[in-house]
Parts: sequence; C-alpha cells; structure tokens
Amino acid sequence: MSMIPFDAREGVIWFNGELVPWQDAKLHVLTHGLHYASAVFEGERSYGGHVFKMTEHHERLQASAELLGFSLPYSVTEIDRAANEVLKANGIVDGYVRPIAWRGSEMMGVSAQHNRINVAVAAWEWPAYFSPEARLQGIRMTLADWRRPAPDTAPTRSKAAGLYMICTLSKHAAEAKGFNDALMLDYRGQIAEATGANIFLIQEGKLHTPTPDCFLDGITRRTVIDLARERGYEVIERAIMPEELARTQEVFLTGTAVEVTPVSEIDDYKFTPGEITRDLLTAYDDLVRQPGLAASAA
Ligand SMILES: Cc1ncc(COP(=O)(O)O)c(C=O)c1O
Repeated sequence: MSMIPFDAREGVIWFNGELVPWQDAKLHVLTHGLHYASAVFEGERSYGGHVFKMTEHHERLQASAELLGFSLPYSVTEIDRAANEVLKANGIVDGYVRPIAWRGSEMMGVSAQHNRINVAVAAWEWPAYFSPEARLQGIRMTLADWRRPAPDTAPTRSKAAGLYMICTLSKHAAEAKGFNDALMLDYRGQIAEATGANIFLIQEGKLHTPTPDCFLDGITRRTVIDLARERGYEVIERAIMPEELARTQEVFLTGTAVEVTPVSEIDDYKFTPGEITRDLLTAYDDLVRQPGLAASAA
C-alpha cells in the first residue's frame, strides 16, 4: 500500500453531494465532530468493482447517526450512489470505502442542536495482499486493559467515532508489546471483540461467539454465521468468559478489513488454525470475490 499520507493523495472525494479534489476535502479546526466526537462512519470493501453488502453498510451508517441524535441529510440510496460514483471517478476496482458523517462548526459547545450534518465518502485502493495460506499463520493478540462499555454507558450499537478512543489505546498498547491486536473484554469481564473486528472461538467442532449486546454486530460476523450454518456447523451466540480460551482449539476474527483472520495466540493461550477456520476463510473469500457479483454491479 502506498505510504503517501491520506491528506496528500490524488483523486476525488464525495463531500456533501459533490465530487471535490482529494486535497480540498478539508474541515475547519472548530468542528463539533472533532472536539466532541459527534461523528459516525463505515468501512466497506470493493471487490472487482462491487462493494460487498454496500446498502447494509449505509443502513448502519444511518442507524449510527440516529443513535447519536442526528439524521443524515442523504438517503441510503443517495449514499449508495455516492460510493459508486467515488469508486468510478477514482478508477478503483479493489478498494476500501470510508463514508463519514459529522456535526459541523456552526456551534461550539456540548450542545450543537442546529449544526449542519456533513457527509463525505472517500475510497482508496486496497488490493488483497496475503494469500489464504499466509493468513492461516494467524495473528498474535493480547488482552486489552480497556473494556467495552455497557449499553447504558455509551451508544454501543453505533459505529461512532468516540467508541474508537479505547480501540486505538488498546491497539497501540498491544503493538508496543509486539502483538498484532488486542482482545477487549466487556464491562462484565466477558470476551467482547478485537479493536476493529468480531471474534469466534471453536470448541469441539462448534463455533461460539459472544452475543453482541454491547459492541458492533458486524456485517462480516453475520455473514460468517450464515456461511457456517449453511455448511452444517453449529453456531452458538452466548456469554463467553476469557478462562474458556484454555479449552478452545481455534480462534478467528471477522470484519470488513480483516475478512476472516485466524488467531494463533492470545497471551499464553495458543491456537492452531484448523479445518473449520480454513473452510470459513475460503467460503468468505469465495463469496466476496464472486465474479457474478461484480458483473451485476457494473
Ligand atoms: C469495533 C468493531 N467491531 C467489529 C467490526 C466488524 O464489523 P463489520 O464486519 O461490519 O466490518 C468492526 C469493523 O467495522 C469494528 O470496528
């Protein structure tokens, strides 16, 4: 991937209904979204020119905004169109799409009832770098110090920028110790998720995944649950305590960015990605990269 800073790239960004030159898509420093985290966003992948589950992402963007008390000034269909426009204008086939909505700068204070709601959609190239074989090596994780908050502490169903404060802290702490990512527990001490992905455990041939009652119910998570059930695997959504890692044979993460990523260790617990992980990793790869999907999106 190019190491050009994100504000110095070439191309266009969809900004409040218009395509603007990439480097002109700027905000004022006195923006409510920046000071008070009144912002929601999405992360999507385009495969062969087709954004996987695009409308679902934009429905979630709309729902996230409502949970933060504001309405998007564009419909889901308009944001779908914006994402396709931005991919096409930038000539992106395999890429990442980042829509974001935020309160503007009309008022600066906790209360910002009348601030403009801004929406932007950016996209950049993101080809697949690792073969399934390389990914099957697995990533190394460590337990985070920060916990996912209770649903009456923060709007946990929203993909809200503010909820990522503890994700960045946890990921940085993990990286400083030489790990790839952090496993976050929730406010009850149950396993919740990674800093940007959901988690699955395989115990005696069955899949177990935490009930998403205080963190994002990922679109990839739901897709993988469907793929697993179609393949005859039992999937159990339930409360999972970290001690259970001792009797877990395989672990993998799911998310738009990480797709299906096996985990080889979580602190002292070691896992070997096996048949079920491999099967679901391949099934997900095949689903998102279906040539038929790309053709129907043209
Ligand atoms: C904190 C968090 N959990 C889970 C996910 C997985 O969600 P999805 O599969 O919809 O990308 C993401 C990625 O968006 C995330 O940031």
